[in-house]
Amino acid sequence: MSAKRKILATNALPYANGALHLGHMVGTIQGDIWVRTQKMLGHDCLYICGSDGHGTPIMIQAEKMHLAPADMIAQIHQTQVNDFTDFLVEFDNYHTTHSAENQQCVETIYKRQVEAGNIIKRTITQLYDPVKKMFLPDRYIKGECPVCHAKDQYGDNCEVCGTTYLPTELINPYSTLSGEKPIEKESEHFFFKLQNFESFLKEWTRQGHLQQEVTNKLDEWFKAGLKEWDISRDAPYFGFQIPGEKDKYFYVWLDAPIGYMASFLNLCNKRKDLNFAEYWEQEDKVDLYHFIGKDIIYFHALFWPAVLQGAHYRTPTKIYVNGFLTVDGQKMSKSRGTFIKARTYLNNLQPEYLRYYLAAKLSDRIEDLDINFDDFTQRINSDLVGKFINIASRCASFINKNFAGELSAQIIDPALFAEFSTAGDALADHYTNIEYSQAIRQIMTLADHGLHVFCTTENRINRTGLYAFGATNTFSFTDNSNCR
Ligand code: MF3
Ligand code: ZN
Repeated sequence: MSAKRKILATNALPYANGALHLGHMVGTIQGDIWVRTQKMLGHDCLYICGSDGHGTPIMIQAEKMHLAPADMIAQIHQTQVNDFTDFLVEFDNYHTTHSAENQQCVETIYKRQVEAGNIIKRTITQLYDPVKKMFLPDRYIKGECPVCHAKDQYGDNCEVCGTTYLPTELINPYSTLSGEKPIEKESEHFFFKLQNFESFLKEWTRQGHLQQEVTNKLDEWFKAGLKEWDISRDAPYFGFQIPGEKDKYFYVWLDAPIGYMASFLNLCNKRKDLNFAEYWEQEDKVDLYHFIGKDIIYFHALFWPAVLQGAHYRTPTKIYVNGFLTVDGQKMSKSRGTFIKARTYLNNLQPEYLRYYLAAKLSDRIEDLDINFDDFTQRINSDLVGKFINIASRCASFINKNFAGELSAQIIDPALFAEFSTAGDALADHYTNIEYSQAIRQIMTLADHGLHVFCTTENRINRTGLYAFGATNTFSFTDNSNCR
């Protein structure tokens, strides 16, 4: 085993505006398996997460539920904790971005960026809902596509012809919140100068912190040119106020990843043996791993390292990206009945089944991962029940029934024992390299061998009796239907 390392692993923080679904479980379980492996290998590994509590959708959802945003996110936070716990995900801390710790970290980072000259102010024009009295994010504006004239298209792109455009280009735009025609209105925004980090990022993204597919994606973005990032939003907004400003808030995506630090800081306040500076202010003492979905690569592989670097914090060791979850080959959909909430699954099936099924399919490629329930049933029945559990359960009853629960003093099949005991290192490597499907394949091959030897032994006993095995009671052999 390599020397004991300190590792901080995180999973993307789910928004606290609705129930978790099976898609959320992919990255979380992927991370959990990885963290468990590192802990089993003796590393000092912590797994950190929390709820993402800010932004316009949270504010709108709370309004719909007739709750104060802070109350709504507190409620949903608790359901997230329950869902993850029941899926056997073992977070060392589950905090929230709507916290004093996060506000403290965000303000420190913002102050350092201002001092370093990475923040500029500029006046921009945006669409504004005169009835709701708020600026409208693109997803709250609909209208006619300027290219193909399809009706009711979102403010950023047309789902019919695929064109991307500015919301101001929509024909007959309307606010989805009030139905009103938006007006154009100016306001001053704060921008993070991502371009200041171009050479740093070009280097960082090629230093092995990312999967190859991600590096390739980033090359496209570098070619398109890095742009200033708008990190402010006008009131009304649910988030942290920008210090020294009136009615200006930090955009949720600035404070969300800082929530990783905040969750860790919260843990430091509970566990006095942890040192925040050791984890976040030095590059070499601790490894930092982020598990995320492929839709948030830009935020984690460009903005986040730049924000950290600009504020003199350490940058991530590795970012592991997973694909989307599909059900029967298609995006989960409420109307097709394939949108599965985490809780719905838990009310019907064991968490281990999904964990096993995901592990059997996960690799380090950023492919979408499909749940097909026939395949699911078949794999669980044949692999988990028919092989893995079958070995344990048959051995247990066999040993109890015939040998009074005592194991033999000798190893009957030394070759099999050696095969199992030497497999551990390769399996650990597969898990560490997030090649879980390879680990599972190897484990199931071992299970096949184990089951085969068990069956041969059983048959031998059947033929020769137990005497040769040192037993005193009589053996009755009934079921060998699983033996091939
Ligand atoms: N809440 C975001 C989402 O669901 C993810 C935030 S990840 C974070 O897309 F790191 F930025 F917090
Ligand atoms: Zn169109």
